[in-house]
Amino acid sequence: MSYRNENGLNLQRLPPELQASLGPLYEHKDHRQEYLSINEIHQGDAAQLLIQIEPNSISLSVWSPPYFVGKEYEAYLDFEGWQTLLSTVIACHFPIIKPGGFLVINIADILVFRDPTMPRIQAEVVRRKRSPVTRQDVLDAMQQHPEYNRYQLAQFLGCSEQTVDRRLNGNNIRGGKSEAQTRVKVVGGLVESWASAAGFYLYDRRIWVKDPAWENSQWASLSYRAVDEFEYLYIFWKPGVTKIDRNRLTRNEWRDWGSRAVWQIPSVRTNDDHEAKFPVALPTRIIQLLTDPDDIVLDCFIGSGTTAVAAIRQGRRFVGIELSPDYVELARRKVSQEPPRLLEKHESYQTDSSDERSSSPSLDVSAEHVDRS
Ligand SMILES: C[S@@+](CC[C@H](N)C(=O)[O-])C[C@H]1O[C@@H](n2cnc3c(N)ncnc32)[C@H](O)[C@@H]1O
Repeated sequence: MSYRNENGLNLQRLPPELQASLGPLYEHKDHRQEYLSINEIHQGDAAQLLIQIEPNSISLSVWSPPYFVGKEYEAYLDFEGWQTLLSTVIACHFPIIKPGGFLVINIADILVFRDPTMPRIQAEVVRRKRSPVTRQDVLDAMQQHPEYNRYQLAQFLGCSEQTVDRRLNGNNIRGGKSEAQTRVKVVGGLVESWASAAGFYLYDRRIWVKDPAWENSQWASLSYRAVDEFEYLYIFWKPGVTKIDRNRLTRNEWRDWGSRAVWQIPSVRTNDDHEAKFPVALPTRIIQLLTDPDDIVLDCFIGSGTTAVAAIRQGRRFVGIELSPDYVELARRKVSQEPPRLLEKHESYQTDSSDERSSSPSLDVSAEHVDRS
């Protein structure tokens, strides 16, 4: 039996064991009429709503989940629940991504992972001179700069934030002896194993270098740890026909970021309406690189709606999912503020000479030929 199914996948090109397990998924037909509507932000739990998306319809899913770093919107999750959420959501993606399509996960390692089994770090502070800063100095500084937080006050007074807190409250903000130690938890391995179990293959990974987050770096003054300044993009591929089109980016774009592993993109300056937005440039690059106009882009942790905005600006359709009703409202508002855009046809790229698009021809390649050579 040798055939391409309706999704363009030649099942015979898959390893035999995958033919058996993946075949039924690619052939899956669900004749329900009620799928999640396109170009809308849907309120609900990603793990429950993803199964309501039309099978094999999503060209790209790009999202940034809760990172398990203590944000308000993830307070309902313990570490086990967080792992269950992510593994379930990843597994729910396999049936809905188009064969040859991509799932892109933006995530960072957990830098302050509480671990009661970790031995206490025996820190010998070399310059253990008592700080001359008094309680009155702190109170004066607070009066002078009421808008300063603890870290800014410490910087202003030339002492550690621990000293500020000790002078004000007589306690140690890093916790007493009974507090669990914290360590770094790398998440890439977890994400890769969940995606592999779902049927995806890790196709690429990139690093997003953002602004150094000094403010969040509770240890900047008392350890050898680095500040938080980069995140990952893991790009997973669902086996199938993938169009490789060098005309999606200009020559300059290929040179500056399309072919580069490290992306320098400033963080969002004001997280005034959402705790953890990513900059619109991040999903925009992924969308430009991996999709064509009119394709459907999914974000199942859409927060303030950044991915939908990026999709609209690139002439793509979108599906957004978000648990928090407040963020749903925010995302819908952002979407409604985007001027309606005529969907460009892909051919228009070829004639856009001002853009210096690459002259290399488009290639349709089968799964085996999709690599970086
Ligand atoms: C890191 S933020 C995403 C921010 C988004 N990229 C932006 O630019 O605004 C993660 C989002 O996931 C949402 N969330 C948490 N648990 C969820 C769940 N089970 N289903 C859907 N959304 C969830 C949170 O409310 C939060 O808005």
